[in-house]
Amino acid sequence: MIISVINLKGGSGKTTTAMALATAAARHNRNVSVLDTDPQGDATTWAGDAEDAGETLPFTVDSANIGKLKRLRKTMADDELVIIDCPPAGNVVDVACDVSDFVIVPATQGPFELSHALETAESLDAAGKPYALLLLKVENNKLAGNAVNLIRERGASVFDASVPKRVGMQKVIGHAFPSNLNGYEDVYSELEEVIA
Ligand SMILES: Nc1ncnc2c1ncn2[C@@H]1O[C@H](COP(=O)(O)OP(=O)(O)O)[C@@H](O)[C@H]1O
Ligand SMILES: [Mg+2]
Repeated sequence: MIISVINLKGGSGKTTTAMALATAAARHNRNVSVLDTDPQGDATTWAGDAEDAGETLPFTVDSANIGKLKRLRKTMADDELVIIDCPPAGNVVDVACDVSDFVIVPATQGPFELSHALETAESLDAAGKPYALLLLKVENNKLAGNAVNLIRERGASVFDASVPKRVGMQKVIGHAFPSNLNGYEDVYSELEEVIA
């Protein structure tokens, strides 16, 4: 199973989402790995810093280019879950999307953000690619609930669970996650249904 985390915007929470969901998957005894396709290499740096801090992550993070992505299906194990962390732009994003079984689109709740996420949802729909939007950095559960309803009214797919805004999510960069995954446990449970 290959899952890409895609949003054509930096700082939307892609890398954090990839790392948190990989952690959740590992805690559910899944054979999971992260592929870092972002030239900035944030996921790779995160894993290296965690190791230096003596907090080795429960999954591997490897960098990957377009060629590696195209061969991915042939080179991965049958039971493997690969989570691809994407950059905000570039051909590698299209290839990651192409080779994926499922795409996660993190979105924050600003009006521009939400409409961009809906546009992405529309093009994924048009391409017949299974996906779900994921609301991140939520400050108000009621507004998040309204946003989820609005997204569904527009015919787009969205996770029921959303991820609250927490300073702790900035502090965890370069470290292993604590036992509490700040809502990503519930996102992963929904994802398990997709995987199954
Ligand atoms: N739920 C959250 N609450 C608060 N800050 C968050 C949350 N998720 C991510 N962030 C912060 O947002 C910034 C961008 O996150 P990152 O995962 O690097 O995004 P991207 O990979 O899309 O550029 C980071 O500083 C990160 O710690
Ligand atoms: Mg990133």
